[in-house]
Amino acid sequence: MFKSALIRIQHFFFSISLQAKIIGMVIALSVFMGTVLSLQVSRFLNDHTRAFMAQESRSVANEIAHKIPDYTLINDLYGLTRYLVNAKSNRRDVRYIVVLDRRGNIVAHTFGSHFPTELDSHLRRTYRQQDGVQVIETNEGLIWETILPVLQGWNGSVAVGVQDYFVRLDNREFIRSLLLTTFLVAMAGIFFAVLLSWLIVRPIKKLLAATNAVRRGEYTVVLEPVSRDEVGALTLAFNEMSSGFQMAAEARKEKETIRREFLQKIISSQENERKRIARELHDQTGQSLTSLSIGLNLLERMACSQEMRQNIHQLKEHIKNELEAIHDMALELRPSVLDDMGLEAALSLYVDNVRKASKVEIQQNIVGFQNRRPVSSIETCLYRIVQEAVHNAVRHGRARHISLFLEWENDIIRLLIDDDGRGFDLKILETTTRLGIHGMQERVELADGSFRIESEPGQGVMIVVTVPSPPGDDYEE
Ligand SMILES: Nc1ncnc2c1ncn2[C@@H]1O[C@H](COP(=O)(O)OP(=O)(O)OP(=O)(O)O)[C@@H](O)[C@H]1O
Ligand SMILES: [Mg+2]
Repeated sequence: MFKSALIRIQHFFFSISLQAKIIGMVIALSVFMGTVLSLQVSRFLNDHTRAFMAQESRSVANEIAHKIPDYTLINDLYGLTRYLVNAKSNRRDVRYIVVLDRRGNIVAHTFGSHFPTELDSHLRRTYRQQDGVQVIETNEGLIWETILPVLQGWNGSVAVGVQDYFVRLDNREFIRSLLLTTFLVAMAGIFFAVLLSWLIVRPIKKLLAATNAVRRGEYTVVLEPVSRDEVGALTLAFNEMSSGFQMAAEARKEKETIRREFLQKIISSQENERKRIARELHDQTGQSLTSLSIGLNLLERMACSQEMRQNIHQLKEHIKNELEAIHDMALELRPSVLDDMGLEAALSLYVDNVRKASKVEIQQNIVGFQNRRPVSSIETCLYRIVQEAVHNAVRHGRARHISLFLEWENDIIRLLIDDDGRGFDLKILETTTRLGIHGMQERVELADGSFRIESEPGQGVMIVVTVPSPPGDDYEE
């Protein structure tokens, strides 16, 4: 319970801003100081007032007791009363002075014509027993009363009561001015705390904004150190760090450019090589085999025995199969239709071939390519991705159904290939050294596009590719 409250306070403390923390601490300190100071001072004043009242009561009583015989010995009660009234009016804390004779009768007092009856009975009761100062509770508050015997032949006594009314007023005034001073000091403290926190927090806020900029990849931010303290040192360290980041980013960018150029060269030379081999297969090997087949036709006609004709026929069949295989191989390597007729035609041809060669059902949907073609590098990129994805779906996924969707809209080409095969755990891609899917990614990256693959074992594979493609050459059919 206590621990959770502490944790909540800690959470709250850590969740508020630095500026609020500093100002809050100064306010809390001011309130605490003000309260402690007021309590201490009022306690001291209370003790001091009590001691002062007792002292005052005693000293006034002493003074009066010494003077009284001057009047009582000549029985001047009128003069005595005037003296008492005068003595009272000179001392603001004195509430009453009463002179009693040896039997306790009141001889003179400072009340005028209305002597309080409670005081009368109180004095009659106590004038002989009292020793020192007594504190009496009355309806006017506390009274410090001293009753002293008046000797020198008269044997009466004097009672003096003093009250703390005025002293308390003074005390209250003193505490009020003390609180006002504390308040003004606290206000000055808060003002300086606001100023100080602003001075501390302003460079920290700038540092925070700059750090966020660095996080976004803007490494050119340089901050001017405003002080030579820890914040200034932090600013200098930040500047060094961001310039280090900038250098590292530039080096990385340079390496990335080299890598991209290298990759582009590899891919284009690979494509050129494939094109060359495909043409060679078609033009050289295909033509030679076709001539061979024509020669065999002549030989077949000139053959003199049935057995010989059969052998020639078998050879012709063999050549025919080889020609088909060469045709398929050339198509797989680089279909000339891709360069001549464009992506849509090449994909249709490829899909037809796969349909024929395997029992896979391929649903193909191509939108937005009427009478226009993307640039050749994008066409090759998308063609190779489809080729690899379909190849994987058939070979690894044993898919029965593949759907292919290609759309060109608003300068963006989207390709979606989805199969219902066995799927696979995508973690394989983190460790595999095979190049199929990584190759797709590389090609898309070179085209400044995005590549996404989704799969789970038993759930098939979905590949989504997006590449920016401003219209390439328009062509008329
Ligand atoms: N459509 C798919 N269905 C099931 N598994 C797949 C599919 N596509 C890829 N895989 C899995 O992902 C692995 C990596 O595929 P990738 O195409 O990168 O390499 P590969 O086909 O094995 O070799 P390469 O393409 O380099 O000849 C494959 O070995 C296979 O296990
Ligand atoms: Mg593959």
